Amino acid sequence: MITIERVTKRYGETYALRDVSLHIPKGRITGIIGYSGAGKSTLLRLMNGLERPTTGRVIVDGVDVTTLSRRALQQKRQSIGMIFQQFALLSTKTVAANVAFALRCAGVPKEQHPKRVAELLELVGLSDRANHYPSELSGGQKQRVGIARALANDPDVLLCDEATSALDPTTTASILQLLQTLQQSLGLTIVLITHELDVIRAICDDVVVMEDGRIIERSDVYDLFACPATELSQTFVREARGLNDVTRLPKHANGTRLLLTFTGPEAYEPIVSDTTETFGPGLAILGGHILTIQNRPLGTLLVEWTGPKECEGVLIDALRQRVTEVEVLSHERLIP
Ligand SMILES: Nc1ncnc2c1ncn2[C@@H]1O[C@H](COP(=O)(O)OP(=O)(O)OP(=O)(O)O)[C@@H](O)[C@H]1O
Ligand SMILES: [Mg+2]
Repeated sequence: MITIERVTKRYGETYALRDVSLHIPKGRITGIIGYSGAGKSTLLRLMNGLERPTTGRVIVDGVDVTTLSRRALQQKRQSIGMIFQQFALLSTKTVAANVAFALRCAGVPKEQHPKRVAELLELVGLSDRANHYPSELSGGQKQRVGIARALANDPDVLLCDEATSALDPTTTASILQLLQTLQQSLGLTIVLITHELDVIRAICDDVVVMEDGRIIERSDVYDLFACPATELSQTFVREARGLNDVTRLPKHANGTRLLLTFTGPEAYEPIVSDTTETFGPGLAILGGHILTIQNRPLGTLLVEWTGPKECEGVLIDALRQRVTEVEVLSHERLIP
């Protein structure tokens, strides 16, 4: 659907993007994650022609948007909707008038506006707010107006730049749910920027990790969680799996702390009791949880072995036969 070919974008001396190539497949939700300044928004603005690359090509649905005339580009942009973190609504216009304004920009004949506005507000669940002003809406409702407005052109692609970053977790979940429903019912291709892996986990199919103007990793979302390849994605995934604090949790002086990862049916096997049977007592369970990613479980179990030291190597080998991954965690602090 969208192909970025060897794109570099420079602002004066600053490189926002460095030799970036990427294909965004049709009808999927692709998440782009990275720290501030990584180049995410620049990449998104190139996709709808708001920016032109310094070098390289951007091809949207077979058309090279980097060579289009202003007029042709404007036309092309009608097939791409965009929503923003700060909603960007017109504060002096009602909800209905905000959406009607987008219809007018899209060249929809005026007599069709009332019906189309009603349809779009229905789609985003805001029919009862048509005559309210943006200042009378919650953040989640404002973003729903933003989505209705972005859909006014009947676009094939929806670009979302930190669309939920200003919202609380519950409202974020409802907006993400709405995006997913719209993606399925309208067959949209969605590209979504975020700095939260939880947003990616909730609705994305694919994920792109950016750092310092480059794409450093691209993966199916489940695979990124199960085996993150780069240091940056490992940091994100450890955070999302609640593991960043684990090394600070004190451990027994003679204990060995192990992190077990489960990705399949082995999660249902009695691994801990089997271990006790073979190696005797000594495996303490410190914590565990399961994340659901793309309807598949990703299990985390944190254990500490305080049994005989000489059994440790064999125990770890035995566990490695049974679970997807066993990581021996290094430690900062010991229990006094
Ligand atoms: N119009 C501009 N003029 C000059 N520099 C810019 C411009 N737009 C972006 N940059 C620079 O390009 C780099 C990438 O910016 P970009 O906005 O794409 O990052 P981002 O990943 O979206 O960050 P954030 O998460 O903070 O939104 C930054 O160093 C930024 O300062
Ligand atoms: Mg940005």
